[in-house]
Amino acid sequence: MNTQTSALLLIALAAPAYADDIVMEDQSQILTGAGETASSRYFQPPQESELPDNAYGKLVQEGRAIFVDTKNRATEYVGNGLACANCHLEQGRKANSAPLWAAYTMYPAYRKKNNKVNSYAERLQGCFQFSMNGKAPEADGPVIAALSAYSYWLATGAPTGQELPGRAYPEVPKPENGYDLAKGEQVYAAQCAVCHGQNGEGQKSGDDYVFPPLWGADSFNWGAGMHRINTAAAFIKENMPLGKGGSLSDEDAWHVAAFMNSHERPQDPRLIDGSVEKTRDKYHANDGVNLYGEIVNGTMLGKGL
Ligand code: HEC
Ligand code: HEC
Repeated sequence: MNTQTSALLLIALAAPAYADDIVMEDQSQILTGAGETASSRYFQPPQESELPDNAYGKLVQEGRAIFVDTKNRATEYVGNGLACANCHLEQGRKANSAPLWAAYTMYPAYRKKNNKVNSYAERLQGCFQFSMNGKAPEADGPVIAALSAYSYWLATGAPTGQELPGRAYPEVPKPENGYDLAKGEQVYAAQCAVCHGQNGEGQKSGDDYVFPPLWGADSFNWGAGMHRINTAAAFIKENMPLGKGGSLSDEDAWHVAAFMNSHERPQDPRLIDGSVEKTRDKYHANDGVNLYGEIVNGTMLGKGL
């Protein structure tokens, strides 16, 4: 210990009790300044312990409960085995995983998907219709109220109408030679099947999934954002394999995203006249990179389940 440090220690020890607050503040500043962590670049949502013990705090908690256990908490609006938090990780807090704190402050906003300015409630309704393969809860009903309160609380102190770093999923450049389904199948077998199953069916404990299904009847439908290969590649690169986000190469993220989305899943609820072709022309032809209505291995995808 050098003399300077011991001198500081002496001062600290000698400091009277009433100076406690000030000493703490200084310490925390030194800690954050010293090691710039990755997370300090992003907006920090409040901690659970900061929730007020009142009606507002209870509604926020209800929203969080719906977000992590959607099927059991909002049963009548959910048509698959997923929870919101399966795709919005860490209960909707994780930067670069479409966090709710970065979303809430950006609505109302125009969406090409339905060609109008959407309120936040309408944005949430869309998640139920597509990602959850269910139906929209009433905009002024309890489910949307709770999810909105949870989002609003996570965004406490965030600027309104300003795109925050960490919003959505960071785009992953498309491989120069396109994606390759055979390579995707290899990546899937080596890195994903252990949790999500040989056939993307997920794994259950009792009635609930511990590893969510990636395709098939219990997964997101053909109208969900995740059905786009570019969006799925972004999600996968950032988050999967779980606990090893960022470990796949950009190419492998695309290959495995394409492999995942080359399997059948529930129909796009916007299906026009029972025709996959018409629905493709209207809703999928200009919606990123996707395989809806395309022929893969001799079969047309998009027939639905
Ligand atoms: C299958 C994965 C998946 C599930 C399940 C899911 N989402 Fe999403 N969510 C996405 C994707 C992907 C996007 C980005 C959509 C896009 O790019 O069109 C998104 C976007 C959003 C947004 C807008 C984000 C922004 O920054 O504008 C909100 C809010 C949202 N989801 C809430 C929910 C809620 C609430 C649920 C549950 C009822 C839910 N999501 C379920 C994948 C999912
Ligand atoms: C160690 C187990 C594990 C591995 C390995 C794994 N995942 Fe996941 N995956 C999960 C879990 C758990 C979730 C839900 C996350 C949550 O709720 O916090 C998830 C969520 C997902 C989702 C969004 C939810 C859904 O069902 O659509 C996709 C897509 C996904 N994983 C794809 C992949 C791909 C592709 C790979 C291989 C590159 C992979 N995962 C490897 C455990 C795993």
